[in-house]
Amino acid sequence: YPSELIRNFSIIAHIDHGKSTLADRLLELTGTIQKKESGTNKQVLDKLKVERERGITVKAQTASMIHSFNGQQHLLNLIDTPGHVDFAWEVARSLAACEGALLLVDSTQGVQAQTISVFHVARERGLKIIPVLNKIDMPASQPERIAAQMQSTFDINPEDILHISAKTGQGVESILEAIVKRIPPPSGHTKAPLKALLFDSLYDRYRGVISLINIQDGTLRKGDKIASCHTRKKYEVTELGIMHPEELPTTSLQSGQVGYIACNMKNSSEAHIGDTLHRVGEPVEPMEGFQPTKAMVYAGIFPIDSNDFLKLEESIKRLTLTDRSVTVTRESSSALGQGCRLGFLGTLHMDVFRQRLEDEYDANVIITAPTVPYKVIYKDRTVLVSNPTEFPEVTDSTSNVKEVQEPIVNASIIVPDDYLGEIMDLCFSHRADSLDHRYLDSGSGSTSSARAIVTCTLPLSEIVTGFFSELKSRSSGFASFDYEEGGYAKSNLAKMVFLLNSRPIDALALIVHRSAQQAIGRAWVKKLHSIIPRQMFEVPIQAAIGKKIIARETLSAMRADVTASLYGGDVTRKMKLLENQKASKRKMKRIGQVDLPQEAFYDILKSK
Ligand code: GTP
Repeated sequence: YPSELIRNFSIIAHIDHGKSTLADRLLELTGTIQKKESGTNKQVLDKLKVERERGITVKAQTASMIHSFNGQQHLLNLIDTPGHVDFAWEVARSLAACEGALLLVDSTQGVQAQTISVFHVARERGLKIIPVLNKIDMPASQPERIAAQMQSTFDINPEDILHISAKTGQGVESILEAIVKRIPPPSGHTKAPLKALLFDSLYDRYRGVISLINIQDGTLRKGDKIASCHTRKKYEVTELGIMHPEELPTTSLQSGQVGYIACNMKNSSEAHIGDTLHRVGEPVEPMEGFQPTKAMVYAGIFPIDSNDFLKLEESIKRLTLTDRSVTVTRESSSALGQGCRLGFLGTLHMDVFRQRLEDEYDANVIITAPTVPYKVIYKDRTVLVSNPTEFPEVTDSTSNVKEVQEPIVNASIIVPDDYLGEIMDLCFSHRADSLDHRYLDSGSGSTSSARAIVTCTLPLSEIVTGFFSELKSRSSGFASFDYEEGGYAKSNLAKMVFLLNSRPIDALALIVHRSAQQAIGRAWVKKLHSIIPRQMFEVPIQAAIGKKIIARETLSAMRADVTASLYGGDVTRKMKLLENQKASKRKMKRIGQVDLPQEAFYDILKSK
């Protein structure tokens, strides 16, 4: 395919606006996949089980299709992008390999928070944007109103908007035509020295690392010797091809094409996303790479049965091969034993990772409360703390801590007017600052209310636990939310520890804002009281900040002789029970003379 017959595009949209459904239709229409009875949603691009279950795209996938237009065969490369804020880096990465994007908007919902953020990423990258209104088959569809919204928000001419139903296939043909007509072909030169962008990689048990690349210039063939600008390592291409939508080997890939390569790359840490590949002996200027991803939410992961640590660690290592944005270090806790401390891009990212761990590796894990990275500024140095156990005991004027800063995000929330008050309240209760709002449109009289966009700054720590679900429930599911990093700001924070019989439980330490310390302390102590089994003696459960006790409950004593309640004198039965009790003792953690089964931590930490 000469490059004038190639188009590289992606579909960008808010979550649930129909990206995967549209991708399926495009692949069917071009004969890339078989058409099933109409209306079924195979979502071939959503490969991972967790994606199918949750209906979200987590890892961007790529597929090539062939479309005949004006008697000429065109190669259309679709680069799928995830829709969720946590995965914004995947979006930026996918868009770097494209010249155009379909901006898909659900015509029953209108412009949502991520519609705005992905639009801006695409525009900044200079992509040709094709606006598309989806779900026009639905009775609640309001194409004119949403088109006006797109005009006022993005300065898009309503005449340029395509109206489709990805579900029924209505209008989808027009998208193929628009891709060919409106999106420019890639501008590289087939004869120039090889220059390829590595934009994703996956790990294959047999072939090692498979990299997804976009050839900017030149031609790549099987057997070619290539080198990485970043690591300077050299490789030989053993296999290459296009994703159609599964891997389809070809003899070469040329400028403008998107495809996969296998080379003798053994370790996935060698595949740097954003790296430039060139031919050995023909060095090129590296392309602007991607920002390295920064973990914003940290949590400890421990096996329920501490004997499983090595197995868990192995599973985590294998999983991070397919998701390199997760950072991993070892951590040990006196309460939970050996574990790993993982860094994630956000809480959904964390949930998805945990679910994948459970699905794919059958791991039973305990995850500690998520923590964001805090900056602790001492008189002579600044330390980034992402584990509460490393947070200084006291941060008042008597300590040598000058101040503590926490990460802030610039949040935007789009919500129907009726819920504006609720959402403002929600933001204030999560320490919002610089709260402001404006209207995206004026509504359409009785049928639907005006949509407002609320902007504010929020501490990141406030949105890592439960903010999303609160937002959804307080807006009856109508609010959409997006955020970007907003730097650090000084904050009044303290470390809260929980004491069992006066001994701290390290795995439960939290960093809290002073304004909420009472409420948080009380709630946790209550929860511990309800979950921790009673002992032979009375056990105080306390929440403390420094030396100060914030909250307390007392666990009353009980007799633990399990045989006491047995009727009669069945000796073997009695022996067996005592035996069982001994065995379970071994699995117990002993904190401040209190025996705690590891499962108790699971129960304590799983509920918010
Ligand atoms: P993420 O991958 O999570 O970002 O979602 P998505 O944008 O890929 O959305 P998806 O394709 O999963 O569609 C979301 C829901 O909308 C599914 O239940 C689809 O069946 C439905 N849907 C998509 N397009 C249409 C359409 O044109 N009409 C109707 N009625 N439903 C649609």
